[in-house]
Amino acid sequence: QDLSGFIAGLPKAELHLHIEGTLEPELIFALAKRNGIALPYPSEQALREAYAFTDLQSFLDLYYAGAGVLITEQDFYDMTAAYLQRAHADGVCHAEIMFDPQTHTARGVAIETVFAGIARALRDARNDTGITGYLLMSFLRHLSEQDAFDTLQAALPLRAQYEDLWLGIGLDSAERGNPPEKFARVYQRCRELGFRLVAHAGEEGPPAYVRDALDLLHAERIDHGVRAEEDPVLMQRLIAEQTPLTVCPLSNLKLRVVDDLGQHNLARLLRSGAMVTVNSDDPAYFGGYVGQNYLESALALDLSRAELAAIAGNSITASFLPDAEKDKLH
Ligand code: HPA
Ligand code: ZN
Repeated sequence: QDLSGFIAGLPKAELHLHIEGTLEPELIFALAKRNGIALPYPSEQALREAYAFTDLQSFLDLYYAGAGVLITEQDFYDMTAAYLQRAHADGVCHAEIMFDPQTHTARGVAIETVFAGIARALRDARNDTGITGYLLMSFLRHLSEQDAFDTLQAALPLRAQYEDLWLGIGLDSAERGNPPEKFARVYQRCRELGFRLVAHAGEEGPPAYVRDALDLLHAERIDHGVRAEEDPVLMQRLIAEQTPLTVCPLSNLKLRVVDDLGQHNLARLLRSGAMVTVNSDDPAYFGGYVGQNYLESALALDLSRAELAAIAGNSITASFLPDAEKDKLH
């Protein structure tokens, strides 16, 4: 069996995925047309060619611009349905999906519209293919603490309606200069409300941000976390506590966190006993969905089939699924 077939056959969960990062240029153009929005690119090809990033911020600028074509509930539905179909084809049986309501409410899109479209696609996909999903509402860390509190306040009345889906909170966007401590009180409130907690840390930010995400935010999972390796004491803690790291190899390559995939620390982290998973982050922008991330990592880092299976197993373990569901998938 070829390696991509082997990878597709591994039952896996995708734990680090921004739904706005799954908007392919084709869908951006289709939605722009449907909504009468003019794009500053003459073609899908020209847009794709603009995806030459130098760092996280250079990506975020295009990513927020791309999300500007999302207006109606159907737009959010179509985007999410397209992702779930691709994920299912890659052997993903469960996806924990981040979404950024502030990107949309700032443009006048109601938070109800965002939730409704994404949730309807998740429920339809579950019925059609069996793929399950949870939602992690993510706060934009370049915005203020007050803006995050306002977003939480606006979303809470929807909680009962999406109880089966919305179970957690995340933190994303520009990491440097926006440390975890900025959101300590927001996370404290979310914790009291019973949400599961994840946070981006240690992508571009220093290992101290990973430590603070654990100690100040009480994050249960660290998104990226690859720079934790620079602090051996922190690394030993992550291993001892089996804190999951949702690593995104192609993202790290495209955003120049690493110069080439052969330099990525994924294999070293895995072999040192860390609870690492492999995920796609923003697959429409970074050149591949989760299967491609497994495949390119395997080729660049000489991951064995047993190691690939271990990473897929970790993704089930590190998910927020109930234990009985995890047992079925292991
Ligand atoms: N890092 C921070 N914010 C993000 C990312 C990321 O990789 N993707 C989408 N928003
Ligand atoms: Zn991310």
